[in-house]
Amino acid sequence: MTTDSQRFMTRITLPDLAATGRLGARIAAGLRKGDAVALEGDLGAGKTTLARAILKALAVEESVPSPTFTLVQTYETAKFPVRHYDLYRIEHPREIDELGLDEALDEGAALIEWPEHAGDRLPEDCLHVLLTTIDPHSRRADISGPARWALPDLSRDL
Ligand SMILES: Nc1ncnc2c1ncn2[C@@H]1O[C@H](COP(=O)(O)OP(=O)(O)O)[C@@H](O)[C@H]1O
Ligand SMILES: [Mg+2]
Repeated sequence: MTTDSQRFMTRITLPDLAATGRLGARIAAGLRKGDAVALEGDLGAGKTTLARAILKALAVEESVPSPTFTLVQTYETAKFPVRHYDLYRIEHPREIDELGLDEALDEGAALIEWPEHAGDRLPEDCLHVLLTTIDPHSRRADISGPARWALPDLSRDL
């Protein structure tokens, strides 16, 4: 892990689904009102799976469908409302303005798949998680963001 006064970045291996679940729980533990988590990676990398793990750790019991077509789903959680976005189908960042991202961050937090499609609408202080497929069961997670996210120690072994 490297840190400076503002940022940290780390790379961890997620050997199986359970490890992805534990990463989700750690992100959930550190999640505060106003936070955005940018979930990056190719189709099938595990973005929705990680979003589900975060929501599960926040005591969301209902099923969490991929918001591929609805673009956004809102969940009441143990902490605050969390909106789960999938911006894959967004063609221009201005379409984000209709999806209530500002309100989401005023009221709670946002988990954002395909954040690349948000352009400069993406908050600067996002926690970024880039997932890369290593093999059918394992993933690499490159995590970066504001230094305070290093506190829940995202880089400890999973
Ligand atoms: N370690 C892992 N972490 C996340 N997903 C995994 C892992 N191993 C296998 N998978 C599988 O990979 C698929 C990821 O799909 P999904 O989360 O929908 O990806 P994305 O949202 O990035 O397109 C799921 O079928 C999941 O069960
Ligand atoms: Mg997805």
